[in-house]
Amino acid sequence: MATALCPGSFDPVTLGHLDIIERSARHFDEIIVAVIRNPQKTQSLFSLEERQQMLKEATAHVANVRIEFFKGLLVDFAKEHGAEAIVKGLRAVSDFDYELQMAQMNQRLSGIDTFFLSTSPQYSFLSSSLVREVARFGGDVSGMVPDHVKDRLVEMFRGKDA
Ligand code: PNS
Repeated sequence: MATALCPGSFDPVTLGHLDIIERSARHFDEIIVAVIRNPQKTQSLFSLEERQQMLKEATAHVANVRIEFFKGLLVDFAKEHGAEAIVKGLRAVSDFDYELQMAQMNQRLSGIDTFFLSTSPQYSFLSSSLVREVARFGGDVSGMVPDHVKDRLVEMFRGKDA
């Protein structure tokens, strides 16, 4: 049974994430979407439970996907769950340096390989951080996140001073 991890902060899940998760699920028996508990980059907009719930709804149609949380090293989580691969999406050359460095570090630490999927072109500009920013200032994020995520973003920023 070949299991792969799709790791990230998913704050919130975008259609770009979903594209990578759905396509990965065609190549592995099982995909574990590994949601980091405490992203280092920013204070999370959504709680862990909210991020999990949104991911669950977004991936409900993909039978071989499950959502788990992790903290600490991704490769330790991978070993605990018998995952033999990590899958990441590459949007642009700008992603490459950091992703390559992480892939090589993870390989060195554990022997676990990272597989890169090219993001579908219609999502190559998308990131959770930009989606958060656009939604915060009242911009329309339709077609960038699943509808239920858009609704939550609208709800989150309704009546708040940006
Ligand atoms: O969605 P993000 O924030 O780009 O995801 C980054 C993530 C969670 C995949 C990355 O930060 C990670 O793997 N963190 C876990 C800690 C770890 O294993 N660090 C060493 C990586 S070489």
